[in-house]
Amino acid sequence: MPYETLELTRAERVATLTINRPEKRNALNAAVRQELVEALDELRDDDDIRVVVLTGAGNKAFVAGADIGEFDARTPLQQRAAMSGRRVYDELAAFPKPTIAALNGYALGGGCELAMACDVRVAAASARLGQPEVKLGILPGGGGTQRLPRLVGTGRALRMLLTGEMIEAAEAERMGLVDLVVPDADLMSRVAELASAMAAHSPVALRLIKDAVRAAAEMPLAQGLAYERELFVTAFASEDRTEGVRAFLEKRPPEFHGR
Ligand code: COA
Repeated sequence: MPYETLELTRAERVATLTINRPEKRNALNAAVRQELVEALDELRDDDDIRVVVLTGAGNKAFVAGADIGEFDARTPLQQRAAMSGRRVYDELAAFPKPTIAALNGYALGGGCELAMACDVRVAAASARLGQPEVKLGILPGGGGTQRLPRLVGTGRALRMLLTGEMIEAAEAERMGLVDLVVPDADLMSRVAELASAMAAHSPVALRLIKDAVRAAAEMPLAQGLAYERELFVTAFASEDRTEGVRAFLEKRPPEFHGR
């Protein structure tokens, strides 16, 4: 299905979604948000796709946040309506397949929030991250006040949220906001390597690992450990487990079918 604000490409078992408004630094307007939700629906149901990469078009921005132009004439009630219904941040965070954010430039506001809703964040060395909403007299509305402190701790999160200042990729890596920083020219090849390493594995195992780690953020430890054991048994019941164990014993690469 063609999208107006996104490019969707498939290579092997990896889909790459590129937000394509480079002249507006890939700012998230209603159309981008809607199309991202639709594209995630499409990719969730596509058994040939095992990993999703999210990035921005051009070499300046991943996403420079919500489209500020849309805020200008909106009433609070209209804003509430715009924020109800299915939200791309939640859809991404709940997505059952691994997601990688490839940060090719500014990841600000909703861009930083989109990245945080992905599983893994890889940044080009020149990328900059921040939550500048405070400068507009507002606050993050896509999970920034909740996911940022969980990733980097309360103090570091509040420093970013209360100053609105951007940080460099290297500092973001030190504080755990990004997982890997690579030279600009290597970004997409390094991301492709990570994606294909994940895509080689059992889709059942990938889904259950994500489910278990998500539960870690929600459950007390004892409950989380019990949940992990249940998921382990679920994985044990899969054809992929039989195949993975046999392939190891037979000294051959496994062929997983996601069952
Ligand atoms: N919403 C709407 N338009 C945006 C935008 C946003 N969040 N971010 C950038 N743009 C637009 C600019 O208005 C400009 O449009 P124009 O050419 O029609 O005037 C175009 O993108 C290029 O932006 P510009 O500021 O000239 O590019 P830059 O490379 O010098 O700076 C940023 C890039 C991202 C640092 C800067 O654009 C910026 O600070 N954007 C706002 C970030 C923000 O506050 N996000 C949170 C929103 S809640």
